[in-house]
Amino acid sequence: MQQKHFLSLKDLPAADVIAIVRRAIELKQNPDTVTSQARKTLGMIFEKASTRTRVAFEVAMTQMDGSSLFLTTDASQLGRGEPIADSARVISSMVDCVAIRTFAHSTLEEFARNSSVPVINALSDDFHPCQLLADIQTFLEHHGEIKGAKVAWIGDGNNMCQSYINASAVFDFHLNMACPENFEPDSQLLSAHEDRVTLGRDPVAAVKDADLVVTDVWASMGQEQEQAQREQAFAGFRVDSELVSHADERALFMHCLPAHRGEEVSAEVLDAEDAVVWDEAENRMHSQKALLEYLLTP
Ligand code: CP
Ligand code: NVA
Repeated sequence: MQQKHFLSLKDLPAADVIAIVRRAIELKQNPDTVTSQARKTLGMIFEKASTRTRVAFEVAMTQMDGSSLFLTTDASQLGRGEPIADSARVISSMVDCVAIRTFAHSTLEEFARNSSVPVINALSDDFHPCQLLADIQTFLEHHGEIKGAKVAWIGDGNNMCQSYINASAVFDFHLNMACPENFEPDSQLLSAHEDRVTLGRDPVAAVKDADLVVTDVWASMGQEQEQAQREQAFAGFRVDSELVSHADERALFMHCLPAHRGEEVSAEVLDAEDAVVWDEAENRMHSQKALLEYLLTP
């Protein structure tokens, strides 16, 4: 049987992704309406660190009467070279869904090809689609509608940025990106979305009149050794109050977290009284629940 997977926002019909976000808003308001997932198990394989994603998935499964199990590469035979295809075949014969956080996106694709149950991307080097469900949920909760909105991405053309590019098509908004030279998102992804994304070098131009300003760390997991070089390349790309003042006066600021105050974002912006980043983090749980309900309910 052809399984549904969620490796990127483009893996499911756009209408379904929109419905998942709407359902997340509903589940936050009425948690008791969730469909029971009793006796179902979510397997999680994490090759990188996580706070929000792991907690969100585990709590979501608990609240749905199901369970979850957490595997790291080191603690499983994956770390001793068992092929991904074999691991996928075995693990998926025992669990009902698998969430994977890994480096190469191709690892996820290979796992999914050999899995008899849905596979969720819990972050790869290329995409972080689960975070986008929470981000869009947060925007809708505060502004009601994202269709036609102006979103500004400031900084690295990384997994979050590339997920925003996909989101611009799914949720029908315009994305203005400002990335330093050599830190742009994938060129094929850019050309596939050229009608709705703009890439430049000037953060002020990208932020102008934006309804949402988003940034992320300058060095992602796996790039720690590039930290010093990246700090130089990204100087001038910090999101601070001066930069945000060029956005619409009702603009929201988002960051998937963890954040580095004084680096990609100023403490003033992150710790502002009306900051929505904490809603955004909490919404990881509600949106993960909606996603699991969608994938696990026949
Ligand atoms: N935003 C996010 O994915 O956080 P974690 O790395 O803590 O899971
Ligand atoms: N771009 C970051 C996101 C962390 C949630 C990383 O990949 O490390």
